[in-house]
Amino acid sequence: MRKMSYAVFVFVVCLTVLFSASAFASERAKSEGKQGILLVAFGTSEPDARSAIDGIVGAVRKAFPDAEVRISYTSNIIRRKILKEEGLVVDTPPIALAKMQDEGFTSVVVQSLHIISGEEFHQLAGVVRAFSSLRGKYGFERLSLGRPLLDSMEDYMKTVDMLKAKYASFAADGGAVAFMGHGTHHGANAAYSKMQLLFDEEGLPFVMGLVEAFPDIESVKRRLKELNPSRVTLVPFMVVAGDHAKNDMADADDPESWVSVLRGEGYAVEPLLKGLGDGEGLAELFIDHIREALENR
Ligand code: CO
Repeated sequence: MRKMSYAVFVFVVCLTVLFSASAFASERAKSEGKQGILLVAFGTSEPDARSAIDGIVGAVRKAFPDAEVRISYTSNIIRRKILKEEGLVVDTPPIALAKMQDEGFTSVVVQSLHIISGEEFHQLAGVVRAFSSLRGKYGFERLSLGRPLLDSMEDYMKTVDMLKAKYASFAADGGAVAFMGHGTHHGANAAYSKMQLLFDEEGLPFVMGLVEAFPDIESVKRRLKELNPSRVTLVPFMVVAGDHAKNDMADADDPESWVSVLRGEGYAVEPLLKGLGDGEGLAELFIDHIREALENR
């Protein structure tokens, strides 16, 4: 009996040593595993507008030299159009993640390049949850999701600072800047009105309007009437200056475009066909969110 328990004791000791050895091995694998960052944008079918997304990809690569950075698009319509017209394959987030898993990535941050946490972001969160639930050979050791542009109060403040740095010069000499955001039926749409509230508190002659939700062009007209600006610069409040910016905002031949409507109101209006992702500023805010996602897992 006594001998028996001694054998059991030895067996347990052996098992413990074996398990801690394998725990060490897996710790080592964790630190040596392939690191990846998957950026997720809605996408754009306009090749010349894609520079805004490419710029963000480039900035993220520079900020995280040890990680492989990839891009995926959520819009199937855009992915198919790009494939048909340019022969370019851009994966959806689940396909991109499955490929990364298959290629041996152990640690991945999925970073949303969306402006607000609307439907697109929540669908992405579902994809990340599904992959997080996979274990063993089908799963990642570490997988986390970075928040969209406008999430914490700090994000809003940083975004206001970015907009001031980029566009305050257009507001000089009594000018005003009217932003065109996308907008959604999702409750997260309130984020745009929060931006307007912060513009107002800072006394900025900035007006927020949306193509597909409230506050719409009628609200923009009302606010501009109050501001009575010497000129109006139209700026897309979107990552890329794509289809909406070109057509709904800046197409002077379309009587319903914002440039036509506001010129019709008597303002001197100039549209700026640059997305928020063009030039400096936006990528840095997403890089902050990638760092947060790396810390919080
Ligand atoms: Co749209």
